[in-house]
This record gives sequence, C-alpha cells and structure tokens, in this order.
Amino acid sequence: MKCVQIAGPKRLEVTNIKPPVEHDGYVICELKKTGICGSDLHYFVSGEPKGLVMGHEICATVINPGSRKDLKKGDRITALPISPCGKCPQCKNNEPEVCPHTWDLGLGLSLNTPGGYAELTSIRPDMVIKVPNNLTDAEVALVEPTAVSLRAVHRAGIEIGDHVLIIGGGIIGQIAGMFAKKAGATYVAISEANPGRGKKAVRLGSADEYFDALDPAWAVNVNKNNPYGYDKVIDCCGNSATLSSALVACKPQGTVVLVGISMEPVSIPDIVLAMHEINVKGAAAYTVEEFKQVIQMMAEKKIDMLKYIDDIVPLDGVQKACERLTSGTDDAIKILIDPSK
Ligand SMILES: NC(=O)c1ccc[n+]([C@@H]2O[C@H](COP(=O)([O-])OP(=O)(O)OC[C@H]3O[C@@H](n4cnc5c(N)ncnc54)[C@H](O)[C@@H]3O)[C@@H](O)[C@H]2O)c1
Ligand SMILES: [Zn+2]
Ligand SMILES: [Zn+2]
Repeated sequence: MKCVQIAGPKRLEVTNIKPPVEHDGYVICELKKTGICGSDLHYFVSGEPKGLVMGHEICATVINPGSRKDLKKGDRITALPISPCGKCPQCKNNEPEVCPHTWDLGLGLSLNTPGGYAELTSIRPDMVIKVPNNLTDAEVALVEPTAVSLRAVHRAGIEIGDHVLIIGGGIIGQIAGMFAKKAGATYVAISEANPGRGKKAVRLGSADEYFDALDPAWAVNVNKNNPYGYDKVIDCCGNSATLSSALVACKPQGTVVLVGISMEPVSIPDIVLAMHEINVKGAAAYTVEEFKQVIQMMAEKKIDMLKYIDDIVPLDGVQKACERLTSGTDDAIKILIDPSK
C-alpha cells in the first residue's frame, strides 16, 4: 500500500509498504482523511524517527473489525491514538491521557504503529469510535485536535468575564480561543509570530485581537487592556520564548496552561512564576469523555470546524503541505490528507 514515511530532516518519501494484517483483534481500516498535526511537524523538522508513518488525526472506514463485534465493514470511525495500559492508577481513574504508557504505541507516533499517512492502517480495538453519519470526513479528522484544545480550556478553568491570552495561533491555539469564548471569556487575545495566522485568528472569530509576538513593544501592547495581567494564559506553542511570555503576561495568582511541546528543555523566568504565585498546569491530550464531547458538539452543529481547513492534499502532496505549515509565513493552519486521491 502507498504511504508517506519520514526520510530525513524536512524530508518525506512516498513509498510502498506491506498492508496491515490481522493481529491482536486490531481494527483494519481504510483512511478517508488524515490531519497533519503540529506534533507531526516536530518529527518532520527533526527527521526522526526515520521510517515513521505519521498520522493520528483520522477518519477511516472499517475493512476488518477485528475483535470489535459491534463494528462492521464500511462503518466510519475515528480513534483515540493512544495506548493506555489499563492497569495503572491513572487508567483506573479513567484518565488514560496521563498513563505512563499512553504514547508508547500511539497511532502514527511509533514505528510499531504506523498511522494515517497511508491508504490503510490498523488500530487498537478499544480506541476505535464509530462516528455519527451527519459528520463529514473532514470534520471527523478534526475531532482529535479539537479535543486537545477543549482539554486545554478545561484545564485553564475559565470563568465568565475572564481575559484570556492564547500564545501561538496554530490550529490548537485557534480552537482553544474559540472554546475560551464559549466558556465565558469576554476578551480573548492571540499572540502570534506569523502575522497571517494572527490576522486569521481574528477573522475566524477565534480571538478579539492579535498581537505580534516579534514586536519589541509586545510586553506593553499585549497588556493594554489588562493592566494587571491576564486571568488565564494558554501556551499553544511551547518554547522558552513563549512560556516566558506567558508568565510575564499572566496576572499574579493567575493560571498558565502549557499545551505546546518543545523537543528541548525550556528555560523560564522562575522568579516571575514564584513571586507572582502563578499556577502552571500541563494539558495532555484529552479524556475519553472530552473526545466524545467534541463528536457530540460537531453532530449537534454547536461548533463549526470546517472553516479551519485550508487545503486537502493527496499523499504526494504531504511534503509540500508540511513545508507550508512550517514556513512561518504561510497563513494555512490545518491541511488534511486524502490518501485515496
Ligand atoms: N499537549 C498535548 O497533548 C498536545 C497535543 C497536540 C499538540 N500539541 C502541541 O501543541 C503545539 C501547537 O500545535 P499546533 O498544531 O497548533 O502547532 P503549530 O506549529 O501549527 O502552531 C504553533 C504556532 O506558534 C507560533 N509561534 C512560534 N513562535 C511564537 C512566539 N514566539 N510567540 C507566539 N507564537 C509563536 C507559530 O507561528 C505557530 O503558528 C505544538 O507544539 C504541538 O506539538 C500538544
Ligand atoms: Zn494531533
Ligand atoms: Zn495506565
């Protein structure tokens, strides 16, 4: 079957590999749409691990339901791309997102579990979720990143009237802005280094205002409406610069949620964190409940996600799409792959 594999730093290769075979009750399915995620872009840039077939944001149809007797050929599904152990205290507490093994065999995140940048994939049966008929394939592929943003907003504990700063206006930041407003924030600002993405966040209604992260006057500008700092800051980029900005922009005893991930350790102004008694929280993926909530919100048309999609490309177009998404200047934030094209 045709797929896309990591070949080196910023280099992907369209190749042919053996299709998945029946094993351990896994569900074998045919991909309809797969999202290119910001996390995939870290792998794309680093070129590691070589040979990885990425893709954890999927819409697919069942070919072989494996051990899932409730599924049949042709059913449309998505999946939580995680591999919780089911035995640890976190799993027993229904919080698989913080199980120590949850990323060991993540779909499209491990060489042993090739993902959705391919014509076919196989998925751990208990992670597969059948989706309602009134969702388009593209919406289904957006469930996973939307659930990440929902989790971030839940972790922030937004209250009615809050002023919220989102740092990083990629798809995760833009959807987090949308959910922050739904949660009652009366002012949402986005800080972005890419002006195209910043302006787009305001145009799509994800933020009330955009601030240029690279402007030397950023620290003054960003707090012009909040002389005492933001109630909640959500870092959807995740490097030393953005986490430092988050701590500086937050009000004393406010909350900073870290969603963005860096491949390197980050350094922060710990004096600000300590002396302003800032609550710093992580946000890991989503709970099963949050994942299902997103599907329900989409089915009930409570959220409009299709406006965030910039392009849909075939497997041969993934290299170019990843270059666009890492250019720092292109305003595209979400590109889907159609592996059948
Ligand atoms: N915690 C989790 O479970 C989880 C899940 C999914 C994604 N992520 C991470 O969340 C992050 C965001 O994902 P995405 O898909 O939106 O990625 P993305 O790369 O598209 O978005 C990051 C944005 O940050 C902007 N940026 C860069 N430097 C900046 C700066 N100094 N100030 C402000 N903005 C800056 C970039 O221009 C870009 O628009 C990634 O690091 C991804 O790995 C975490
Ligand atoms: Zn993702
Ligand atoms: Zn566990």
